[in-house]
Amino acid sequence: MACFLNKSIPSSLLLLIFCFISTTAELQRLRHEPNYDHDALNFLVVGDWGRKGQYNQSKVALQMGRIAEELDMAFVVSTGDNFYEDGLTGVTDPDFRQSFTNIYTSKSLEMQWYNVLGNHDYRGDVEAQLDPTLRSVDCRWLCMRSFVVNAQVADLFFIDTTPFVDKYFTHPGGHIYDWRGVLPRKNYIQNLLKDVEFALKESTATWKVVIGHHPIRSAGHHGDTQELVEQLLPILEDNNVHLYINGHDHCLERISSSDGQIQFLTSGGGSKAWRGEVKDENAGEIEFYYDGQGFMSVQLTHSDVHIVFYDVFGKALHKWSAPSSNQLNWAI
Ligand SMILES: *[C@@H]1O[C@H](CO)[C@@H](O)[C@H](O)[C@H]1NC(C)=O
Repeated sequence: MACFLNKSIPSSLLLLIFCFISTTAELQRLRHEPNYDHDALNFLVVGDWGRKGQYNQSKVALQMGRIAEELDMAFVVSTGDNFYEDGLTGVTDPDFRQSFTNIYTSKSLEMQWYNVLGNHDYRGDVEAQLDPTLRSVDCRWLCMRSFVVNAQVADLFFIDTTPFVDKYFTHPGGHIYDWRGVLPRKNYIQNLLKDVEFALKESTATWKVVIGHHPIRSAGHHGDTQELVEQLLPILEDNNVHLYINGHDHCLERISSSDGQIQFLTSGGGSKAWRGEVKDENAGEIEFYYDGQGFMSVQLTHSDVHIVFYDVFGKALHKWSAPSSNQLNWAI
């Protein structure tokens, strides 16, 4: 499949148009130039997907394409676990095409994908997914460990959450994780938290959106990630983050923090789902929980936010809107 970005302009040139990469910030910063001519920023969110089309991955992909046709999408966000079971074996791994390029084939999905890494991605050659040469196979692909995307009304902060989770280090359960670039772990996490805090404080966007693979709050199989509750959440609270978006639990869910400031949104229904488990750890208000496959759309304007969760038939399962303000009360 030819790379769509190559149709008119060389991809290297287009990348410059798409995103301006600055080296001055601690976290790598990309500017997403809008390809839309109105006030709204629309994007889709899918997580936990790469299974060569199996487990309804192809059905979810088809409906993502349909919804992207209706709304003027700027990009797609992937919340990680991009390739099952064990990430990619290298940059030439055929899984990249079989689980990504050949699955998300709708014309309306021909746009930038911003990807983070999940724990399964760390079980392969982690550097393969980060390697820019993958863009010569499919130039929609962009994966980095932690980075910021400035997209007009919103700043999106992508955070590499896997290194936070103790059990991957203490009880790897027979799995081998590729920790190149992460060790010594303590330094990695400390620097990352410092950089995220700095970037959040600098942000003047109407919306601050943080994206990571692991949930902070979840009623799903894995539940809350205690390490993130302790180390990351206080920084998000102090800096008026509005949305935290994750995957990892293979479900769709929305939880409000008890003070209503942060919405915790899980979009991890990109393929295998139906675990049939709901935990109520009383960590916030569970507003919506769906155990099957699907994805989410986000629309942000200067005045409000609209979130919609969809199932494999493209049916809207749950919609939620709120006005913008610095201290959101999230009253509907
Ligand atoms: C695919 O989606 C349908 C509809 O939600 C569901 O009934 C079915 O179990 C799903 N298949 C798999 C393999 O998860």
